[in-house]
Amino acid sequence: MLPSWSPISWKEKPIRQSVAYPDQQALAATLHALSQLPPLVTSWEVENLKRELAEAARGERFLLQGGDCCESFASCRSDLIANKLKILLKMGVVLTYGSHRRVIRVGRFAGQYAKPRSADTETRDGVTLPSFRGNLINCREFTPEARTAHPVFLLRGYERAAMTLNFIRGLIDGGFADMRHPELWDLDFVNHAVESRGYREMMRALGESVTFMETMIGRRIGEFDRVEFFTSHEGLHLDYEQAQTRQVPRRTGWYDLTTHFPWIGDRTRDPGGAHVEFFRGIANPVGVKVGPSCTPEELVDLCGILNPENEPGRLTVIHRFGAGRLEDRLPPLLDAVLRAGAEVLWCCDPMHGNTISTASGVKTRDFDEILGELTQAFAVHQRMGTRLGGVHFELTGENVTECIGGARGLTEADLSRAYESDVDPRLNYEQALEMALLIARQMSLRNGQGAG
Ligand code: PEP
Ligand code: CO
Repeated sequence: MLPSWSPISWKEKPIRQSVAYPDQQALAATLHALSQLPPLVTSWEVENLKRELAEAARGERFLLQGGDCCESFASCRSDLIANKLKILLKMGVVLTYGSHRRVIRVGRFAGQYAKPRSADTETRDGVTLPSFRGNLINCREFTPEARTAHPVFLLRGYERAAMTLNFIRGLIDGGFADMRHPELWDLDFVNHAVESRGYREMMRALGESVTFMETMIGRRIGEFDRVEFFTSHEGLHLDYEQAQTRQVPRRTGWYDLTTHFPWIGDRTRDPGGAHVEFFRGIANPVGVKVGPSCTPEELVDLCGILNPENEPGRLTVIHRFGAGRLEDRLPPLLDAVLRAGAEVLWCCDPMHGNTISTASGVKTRDFDEILGELTQAFAVHQRMGTRLGGVHFELTGENVTECIGGARGLTEADLSRAYESDVDPRLNYEQALEMALLIARQMSLRNGQGAG
């Protein structure tokens, strides 16, 4: 039996990645102001997502989660938001085609503003300052003022998340459904791919399927299938999450209404720590990232604490090992969770275990390693009798040059051309679409083998 929970019970537990605010009074006033604002999402949307995630765990849907490593306040712009939404919708179409399952689209945005960091401080030319922690906390410039945590950013972040979500809801209501017609997509990169013929063939077949379905039903796709879209972010800043955690009429339980789907990062998933304490008590579906340091016992513990009722859709385990380690690390975790009989949706983040630094110190990721981890993940789950029910990407809808490889064969020399990420390197528009094509093909082959 776990001790009782309240929205502030996390304060009694040891906390990692906490933020030091010089002005505690200003923090308290800001949190109060934040708690008075209307929520960003509603409890019925949250419950719908939980139901869909339960369906994904049963193999009836597939989860696609993606967006920036770290949203910045400056990137709260209509063009960037629209392009991110477009790439996720296109990937969703491709994955639906390959998996024969409806895809749940979850943006890693509209609130992905706080970052955990390996080191609390950064030193440049003998000067040491607090690390950049994301715009919810401080600013990126290397000055003492910019790096000081300021509570007003909590409000600014909440407002930008609201603006982002408002724009997304407007775009979707206004008929972004056309994104489901591949003949309208920018597919220039396909010409550069070694696989060019295979990609064109998939696109042609996909376009034909959409036309066939519309002909059968006698209506345009957007008229009968409303796009649903959900948001997610790492629930790192517990004061921020707590300020918008509330009870709502006619439902039991507490909802964190800053987002539909918060997740706990790999650095803050200590079963005895503050983050797990906070997230065990809310009714949202929650994710937990697990990396190479997670033991089978620890994961079973986390399942018991975060989902004691074994509620389907409540817990998504997002594994992120790196292509070189997945074969070793994943099977013992799957085995332990199977033995414990815990309900889990398994999702693979192929980004965070595959980050490398170039000789000149630029962080990048290799397209082939990312694809490699996903390919291994599908195979290992199939072998173990579990199901990979989702994927988690860091991506953008722009033509940035942050990850190497892909159809255009980006190399280290290209990275300086358009590297814009504040923290981790993202797949660009073309790399993201190509990744979706490649995993759709893998899923469709597995469907052909009669395995889900
Ligand atoms: C992230 O998702 O940006 C992140 C920090 O991941 P992880 O917690 O898996 O390291
Ligand atoms: Co990241």
